[in-house]
Amino acid sequence: MTSQDVRKQFLDFFALKGHLIVPSAPIVLKDDPTLMFNNSGMAQFKEYFLGNATPKSNRIADTQKCLRVSGKHNDLEDVGFDTYHHTMFEMLGNWSFGDYFKKEAINWAWELLTEVYKIPKENLYVSVFEGNPEENVPFDQEAWDIWKGLIDEDRIILGNKKDNFWEMGDQGPCGPCSEIHVDLRPEAEKSQVSGKSLVNNDHPQVVEIWNNVFMEFNRKADGSLEKLPAQHVDTGMGFERLCMALQGKTSNYDTDVFTPLIEKVEQITGLKYTTNDVILNDSEESEEQNKTNIAIRVVVDHVRAVAFAIADGQLPSNTGAGYVIRRILRRAIRYGFTFLNTKEPFINQLVAVLANQMGEFFPEIKSQQQLVTNVIREEEASFLRTLDQGLQLLENVVAETKGSTVSGTKAFELYDTFGFPIDLTALILREKGFELDEAGFNAAMQAQKARSRAASEVSTEDWSVLIPGNIETFVGYDQSERDVKITRIRKIDSKKDGVLYQIVLDNTPFYPEGGGQVGDKGTLVSANETIEIIDTKKENNLILHFAKKLPENVNASFTAKVNQDLRSLSSRNHSATHLMHQALRSILGTHVEQKGSLVNPNYLRFDFSHFAKMTETELQQVEDFVNARIQEQLPLIERRNIPIQQALEEGAMALFGEKYGDNVRAIKFGESMELCGGIHVKNTAEIWYFKIVSEGAVAAGIRRIEAITSDAVKAHFASYENILNDVKTALKNPQDILKAVHSMQEENTKLAKQIEALVKDKVKNLKAGLTAEIQEINGIQFLAKQVDLNPEGAKDLAYELGNLGKNVFLVLATADEEKPMLTCYISKELVADKNLNAGQVVRELGKFIQGGGGGQPFFATAGGKNIAGIQNALEKAVEFVK
Ligand code: SER
Repeated sequence: MTSQDVRKQFLDFFALKGHLIVPSAPIVLKDDPTLMFNNSGMAQFKEYFLGNATPKSNRIADTQKCLRVSGKHNDLEDVGFDTYHHTMFEMLGNWSFGDYFKKEAINWAWELLTEVYKIPKENLYVSVFEGNPEENVPFDQEAWDIWKGLIDEDRIILGNKKDNFWEMGDQGPCGPCSEIHVDLRPEAEKSQVSGKSLVNNDHPQVVEIWNNVFMEFNRKADGSLEKLPAQHVDTGMGFERLCMALQGKTSNYDTDVFTPLIEKVEQITGLKYTTNDVILNDSEESEEQNKTNIAIRVVVDHVRAVAFAIADGQLPSNTGAGYVIRRILRRAIRYGFTFLNTKEPFINQLVAVLANQMGEFFPEIKSQQQLVTNVIREEEASFLRTLDQGLQLLENVVAETKGSTVSGTKAFELYDTFGFPIDLTALILREKGFELDEAGFNAAMQAQKARSRAASEVSTEDWSVLIPGNIETFVGYDQSERDVKITRIRKIDSKKDGVLYQIVLDNTPFYPEGGGQVGDKGTLVSANETIEIIDTKKENNLILHFAKKLPENVNASFTAKVNQDLRSLSSRNHSATHLMHQALRSILGTHVEQKGSLVNPNYLRFDFSHFAKMTETELQQVEDFVNARIQEQLPLIERRNIPIQQALEEGAMALFGEKYGDNVRAIKFGESMELCGGIHVKNTAEIWYFKIVSEGAVAAGIRRIEAITSDAVKAHFASYENILNDVKTALKNPQDILKAVHSMQEENTKLAKQIEALVKDKVKNLKAGLTAEIQEINGIQFLAKQVDLNPEGAKDLAYELGNLGKNVFLVLATADEEKPMLTCYISKELVADKNLNAGQVVRELGKFIQGGGGGQPFFATAGGKNIAGIQNALEKAVEFVK
């Protein structure tokens, strides 16, 4: 059965059981500060478990792209070393939101595995939660009884809180679970060691394939559990492991999910992957092969995670989710570099294989294949350069090391500043016969972690609910003021922002940050007081209003008032963004896709896929295109709640990595039509004028434009006018400013030429006088002298005097324009025979003038700050020849 069939049968099975089949949510999460990536099938449904939104069906099934590389669930460091963990994996799942519970979930799981997929019952084990008195959660008798009707009692295992109580994060919905494990070992092995004893024991062929979670609780901030308003089912089956079981393999990497990728790596590197690690003998050869196998697994696993994250809009970067992606890719590059001997970018070549393999089910990877390839290639090239530099720096560290142990702090510097992987440092040091002070490294690492933890620490209290059961509605498209009640309140405390309160209302006109547009600011006004709302954000479908203090009477009636001025400025920038998007696609081509957007009252920032720097003409064309649409005074045509299919057929632009509902909102200005939830102008005339202020690169194949509209354009032009006026005044109000500047430039060129000629004459005169002052010391023609010349002149003079013999040593000091400078000239012969070095001389003597410099062994200069030090420097110069 191919992996495609496995996926399809799962979805078909649950469709027949009345489940709505939905697409995978993007792998990168927006609107959820507690989670960077989708780490489980249920993450996209969290709001339903919490009762903050109503699902469109109370039975749903899907396959979800997941990433377990940060936070509570992190498998990154295991990947490659075993054959059944991954960074990115697909999780097949079925959900009941307050509908069916344990009986159906367990029976269906069993039916699917044993009757549809036909996994022999003798190969399966199940686990049930044993209970936990401290948490006050009892043994799961119900699940036990259901399983007992399906499977021999001795195949049911009791599991503790670690294995059989599932929690997505430190807070949030959770519950006891029942896992299904499969034993894939050969019969001979099974008869020797029972599979039961290997369950949950890290055996590569006795693995968990399916987890059925019975969501009953919410974990609160203080660690206690509270009952959820309804009972739910959340199941997750590891797709790659299921494929392993159904394709008769003993490693996920031997299934058709991975073999095409592995073959490509073999083809590129000329190395071979062996299905089973060589464990029979511990020869050096088999050790080498095992390292190759690990590295290949790392590469083929990591490329999936990185490629899908980029396709969903998360580019590698230096912070947050982007940094996690960068680190995953670097781990793969580094394994390739060390164990597959790949010194050139190669991982990007795997994207084509991946697109071919998975593009049908996940179209985002196929349609963005080129972009993903480019971004990965560029990252590879740049990290390979870093590795090269790192190797160089490591050489220096080794050279400076006294004894055989290399300082952990130094290794940490390499790691922290240059991203040079510590295991690579350790390996290279070992090969050179050095040891690494690991304790020192770990201490430096811990100290840094503690620093960044302290900086990012946020403590979040539980909600205090004033009006239960309310689902907040957003009314901000039609209203900017609204009478409201507060439904819940929570306090958060972070190093960054101090104490803040998050307020949820029954209805709200406040737009929460989203689609690039910043959240609204404004006030909550009651009969007695006014509370400032400093920001608005969305989390798990709740609109959170941020305030520095709470109203005295939280139960009062309030009027929520949006700051209209700020919102209006943002809306102009937002509508201009749409027009610019349209302009870019029509001027540069339809390969342009939005890759990031920021819209605030001051400006707009737009990242998009395009392979080259935009020319001046193109930028002008984009500006003209947008300004023409502004002049046309196009009215906003807003379509709310239209079926997504219809909107797409009408030509609306949708973005990759964005999660859309069945019904969407479309924003249309003339020919521009986008799916968008943001706030827009009623007519493009409100934008007044659009002006691009910068264009540049953010990554390989991604450009960024920053632009301004309306008031900001007025301010921009006004400031240019001011500058121009100042220039005019400075030039004494000429008729024609440009002409005045040009004639000044010409005058300058003429003067510079005259000065050059004068200095030449002066050098000649000085040369005559100074020749006589040259002393002979130890067979060297020596002179150290301050001269009244500019730096160019000093250089000329040094060469003139230097030409007088083959053993000349000169140090000339100047103080042109109050800037002390030393110029050192040493004949090439002296450099060779006496080991003198002008660079070293100016570095040493430069200390007297509080400066530094360098150059070549026969000629170097140093500039400084302290004129008073010149005399000392010149006096010391003689020591070099003595
Ligand atoms: N949430 C559970 C898991 O991730 C089941 O989907 O294992």
